[in-house]
Amino acid sequence: MHEKKVMRVALIGCGAIGTYVAKGLRARMPDKYELVGVLDTPKPAAAERLADEMGCKACRDLQAILRLKPDIVVEAANREAVWAFGEKCLKKGANLVILSSGALLDNEFRKRLIDLAGKMKRKVYVPSGALGGLDIARAASVAGAAHASLVTRKPPATLEGAPYLRGRRLRDLRETEKLFDGSVVEGVSGFPQNVNVAASLSLAMGSTDLVKLVIVADPSLSSNVHRVEFTGEFGRAFVEMQGRPMPDNPKTSALAAMSILALLKRIQDPLEIG
Ligand SMILES: NC(=O)c1ccc[n+]([C@@H]2O[C@H](COP(=O)([O-])OP(=O)(O)OC[C@H]3O[C@@H](n4cnc5c(N)ncnc54)[C@H](O)[C@@H]3O)[C@@H](O)[C@H]2O)c1
Repeated sequence: MHEKKVMRVALIGCGAIGTYVAKGLRARMPDKYELVGVLDTPKPAAAERLADEMGCKACRDLQAILRLKPDIVVEAANREAVWAFGEKCLKKGANLVILSSGALLDNEFRKRLIDLAGKMKRKVYVPSGALGGLDIARAASVAGAAHASLVTRKPPATLEGAPYLRGRRLRDLRETEKLFDGSVVEGVSGFPQNVNVAASLSLAMGSTDLVKLVIVADPSLSSNVHRVEFTGEFGRAFVEMQGRPMPDNPKTSALAAMSILALLKRIQDPLEIG
């Protein structure tokens, strides 16, 4: 897609990442994108505030967003929002950017969404998020027989609330503890707000079976650390990320928000790298 026109963007989720993206579009790409509307179903006041600041429309529901005829809808909310809104956006002719990539591990949903995007001649984009190395994953998996192993280390308090922990509090943890070692599907459903990176990595590799996931709570950390080891026909590669958290949400790496702006820039740029 190489539209030269200013594309109309709508945003679902007005938290740390949504706010960063809205401001970034206006500051860095006003000639390429116009933010037309924002939606935050659980926190309408957050949508009102952001819309006021950005001079766009605060929407109360998805229908109101779609009436604005966005060319592209950016999701920065959660998996449930992707499941609820994804197909409706495509049906109305919008392209989709999905940050809560864990939603795409539901095989039936993913297939339906991709088929629909093909039928509507629209695209579903998953930004690289908080992780690097998705270019390696894509290239390595073309030849087959590639594997990746992801170890995610996080400050304990940022993992609290994950369903896998069943209410266990971690903020007083004194020692490093391996909380999870297993499949990406189980890891993402147990820690849906924490390991979208594992879902994005699996999507780039072409299968969740090709990725092994370990989640560690580490009280010595103040930000997230992701380490991926790739092995394949190409050889081996290691990628380590030490992400700085977003000031408004310590669970989230700032790079995830930046990666959405980078993706949007790439969509409009004639030169594509990587
Ligand atoms: N792919 C990645 O690497 C990556 C990295 C960081 C965060 N994420 C994911 O991105 C999402 C946003 O992160 P954040 O830090 O901005 O979170 P946040 O909690 O700061 O903001 C999320 C916002 O979405 C709103 N929301 C929730 N359900 C909604 C719905 N159904 N419709 C509209 N709005 C809804 C919430 O009220 C909140 O304001 C999360 O799902 C997070 O797990 C992905």
